[in-house]
Amino acid sequence: MQLRDARVLLTGASGGLGRELARQLAAAGARVLVAGRDAERLAALAATLGPDDASVRADLSRPEGIAAAVGAAREFGVNVLVNNAGIGGFGLFDRQDWRDVEQLLLTNLAVPMRLTHALLPTLKACPRAAVVNIGSTFGSLPFPGFAAYSAAKAGLRGFSQALRRELADTPVAVIHLAPRAIDTPLNSPAVNALNRALGNRLDTPESVARQVVAALAAEAGERHFGFPEKFFAWLNGLAPGLIDRGLAGKLPVVKRHATSHP
Ligand SMILES: NC(=O)c1ccc[n+]([C@@H]2O[C@H](COP(=O)([O-])OP(=O)(O)OC[C@H]3O[C@@H](n4cnc5c(N)ncnc54)[C@H](OP(=O)(O)O)[C@@H]3O)[C@@H](O)[C@H]2O)c1
Repeated sequence: MQLRDARVLLTGASGGLGRELARQLAAAGARVLVAGRDAERLAALAATLGPDDASVRADLSRPEGIAAAVGAAREFGVNVLVNNAGIGGFGLFDRQDWRDVEQLLLTNLAVPMRLTHALLPTLKACPRAAVVNIGSTFGSLPFPGFAAYSAAKAGLRGFSQALRRELADTPVAVIHLAPRAIDTPLNSPAVNALNRALGNRLDTPESVARQVVAALAAEAGERHFGFPEKFFAWLNGLAPGLIDRGLAGKLPVVKRHATSHP
């Protein structure tokens, strides 16, 4: 897709990856409709973009937020939906509050599906269009301490693959991208401490955004960012028992961090 022809609804634009995505998409010639909940951060972001860009404040976990974002996107003439909004959820599953689990499944899985469902008629009527779903390594390499988050991201990956196959004879590309850990506020101090203890690498929002923009331009179907994470994600598909045994050795560290931070 030619990025100068892209008119993008970007969710989670006020967040760590979203801000950088908005900046890089606009720099590549795309017009961007930035969406988020935090009015102050959205306004600050909009002020750095061009006069043809726009913003919409919407809590996407509420029906009125979905309606606001969809209405603004149609008015904007959207042909690209980037489902980037998301929340984290580190903790031992049986200790998590069920309301938090539901909010996570809603935000990270049902909201991208809902927005896609509402905007597909608009997207299908465009000469070229795309849905970009920001997943996670944990969608293919589900991790202890992240059961609900991994389930949501695995669901998003399954949704993306099925929809890509269903829309193969339409102008709509469905792109699924799976970054490894990124240095953003999504990760709580406990997650940052866990990543340090496990030696997990953190990517910058700038480098991940570059890869997302390149994947959109190339209309790539699916990409995993970062080695060796992409190798282990692949291996988990072939031999999950091997990964079970490998991760069993890390369980005490995961448990310690899941229980020692508020
Ligand atoms: N950080 C990582 O390690 C990592 C790794 C792999 C994948 N990812 C994925 O990358 C994406 C971006 O995450 P990030 O790291 O940039 O996180 P972040 O800095 O915490 O930003 C999350 C964004 O999602 C928005 N959001 C959350 N709940 C929302 C709701 N109910 N309605 C509307 N917007 C909502 C937030 O909006 P407000 O702040 O305005 O409320 C914020 O803009 C997520 O899908 C995440 O799962 C992150």
